[in-house]
Formats: sequence, structure tokens, C-alpha cells
Amino acid sequence: MSGIDEVRAAWASLVPGLDAADENHLAELRSRFLGKKGEIPGLMRLLGSVPPAEKPAFGAAVQALRLEVESALDAFLESIRSRALLDRLESETLDLSLSGENSEPGTLHPLLALRDEILDLFVGMGFEIADAPEVDDEWFNFSALNVPDDHPARDMQDTFFLEREPGRPAVVLRTHTSNYQIHAMRDRKPPFRLLHCGEVYRCDADATHAPMFCQVEGLVLDKGIAFSHLKATLFTMVRALYGPQAILRFRPSFFPFTEPSAEMDVDCRSVGLDRDGWMEIGGCGMVNPKVLANVGVDSEEFQGFAFGFGLDRMVMLRHGIKDIGLLTAGDMRFLRQFRGLA
Ligand code: PHE
Repeated sequence: MSGIDEVRAAWASLVPGLDAADENHLAELRSRFLGKKGEIPGLMRLLGSVPPAEKPAFGAAVQALRLEVESALDAFLESIRSRALLDRLESETLDLSLSGENSEPGTLHPLLALRDEILDLFVGMGFEIADAPEVDDEWFNFSALNVPDDHPARDMQDTFFLEREPGRPAVVLRTHTSNYQIHAMRDRKPPFRLLHCGEVYRCDADATHAPMFCQVEGLVLDKGIAFSHLKATLFTMVRALYGPQAILRFRPSFFPFTEPSAEMDVDCRSVGLDRDGWMEIGGCGMVNPKVLANVGVDSEEFQGFAFGFGLDRMVMLRHGIKDIGLLTAGDMRFLRQFRGLA
């Protein structure tokens, strides 16, 4: 048909190169074929000279060619734009990963390594591991544990108070993990053997005291529990951690929540430290019947023992660390020494 075949052939010869075309080239082609003075509108203008019988077919053929060219140009434009976007995204990508060239292999902090070892040990002795809050009501931290209202431990110097308003129970950062005993005895029925490990807070700081440190708290409640069970459990723990040659002693002591109470010391030389003397690692005792009454446990039926040990002290003892502050200072020179050791 007059002219149409030539225009279609001209268009068809250009198509193979369009994959590599840029937007300007496509715009030129659009105006060449589809613009007002372009080739396809030009074909339409020839309609007048086409014999009447051929007009419908001619018109339809020009229209089909217009649609073909238009949709092909649209599709090429779309693919150029999405390719450009992909290129941009790729070139602007920021690689936030470390190169790995200078990174050192990580290792467990000595406190965590010892904690895991202790948890494993107690799970092996039939204990269940459980959790307790670090921010607690003073009733759990003191009153229910038989610590009198006027006991010096409640004083501002030792306890971090978070809320202290008249007429309401104060909220404290727990000063020991023994708050766990109260939560445990309120939440479950004896018999049980429980272990809890977590942070505690006291307003105190020197070489052997830190304002935040970690305690391991144990609580066993059952029928016929005696001090000998407590002693055997703690000796088993310390000898498993420091070796069978470890020399231990129980020293009579006082805690309002246990009766009788003791503190446990380890002989420094017996565990390989280069100094004389004993290191105190924690307190323990038989659960005071007054505490059992506070949580509704019949002390005629159930007896128990409890202990609370300082994990930081136990780590210091194990590695001969003289300053407790080093454990939380985040100094790489200190921490590197425990790689593969802890
Ligand atoms: N809570 C005591 C402390 O922090 C330790 C302890 C726990 C003593 C359990 C007896 C029984 O010093």
C-alpha cells in the first residue's frame, strides 16, 4: 500500500539497534515517526488520495503501524530507565561489612564462660535455671526476706533506690539475687531445686567491690533438707570449678533470711594463686522459717537451703585478677588474655 510498506520497513530496520539506544535517540525516533510532521501522521495525510474502496484498509494499516511503533518505543524507554536505576543502585551501594582483614576472632568474656560452666554443673545436679527481675519492689528485695525496715543494708549508701515515695513500697535496683528466692517460692510449689544468675547493684566501689556485679543464687526446698546437703552441693561446685585440691571453709555468719548462716571462703594458694589468705566467695544457709511463712510455705513440712555467690569474685579467684573493675572496663588488652583460656 502506498508509502506504508516503506515506513514499516524503515522502522523495522531500526529496531535491532534500539537495545543499545539512549533516551535522546528514542526521543528523536518518536518525533521522526510519530511527531506532527512525522512519517506516520504523514501517511494519514495521504488518505485523501487513496481510492474510497481502499480507505478503511489503509486507515487501519496506518493505525496498526502507529500502535506498533508507539508501544515499542514505550517499551524501550521503560527498559532503559529501569536499567539506569539498577546501575545507580549498584554504584551507590554502601558495603557496611568489615573487611575482615584486621578482625580478631571473638571469645566469651571470662564471666560468661564461668557462668555457663556453673549453669551446666547445676543442671547436671538436677537444678532448673530460672529468671528474676533486676528492678524490684523492696518487699521482694528486703521485707519478705526478713530484712527489718531499719536494717542498715536498706540505707541509701548501699541501695540504689529508683522510687521512694511515702506510703508506697520503694522500687530498688536489687542489691542481691536473693529477691529471686521470694519470686520462686511464690510462683511454684516445692519440692524444687532452682538456680538463678544475674546482675545486682550496690553503691560501693573498690578493688574487690563493684557497683554492679553478678551473683549466682541457688535455692533448694524439699522434705528433710539439712545443712549437709548445702555443704555437699557447694563443695561439689567449688571443686568442679577449681580442682579437687581446693581448700574451703565455712565461716559462721548472719543473714536475716537464713538460719543458721555461713560464708564460704576459698584458700587462695590451694587454687594456684600466688598469695596467702582466704577469698570470700559468697553467703549461704538454711532458709529461715520466717521467710517460708512470708510466702506461705509450711516450714514443718518443707526445709531448704539457699546460697548466693559472687561470680566476679569466682572469676578473680580463677584467673588471679586483683581488680574487679577490670571485668567491666572493656579493655581489649585485658580481655585478649582470656582467648581460649576462659
Ligand atoms: N544475698 C546474700 C548476699 O548478697 C548472699 C546469700 C544468699 C546468703 C543466700 C544466704 C543465702 O550477701
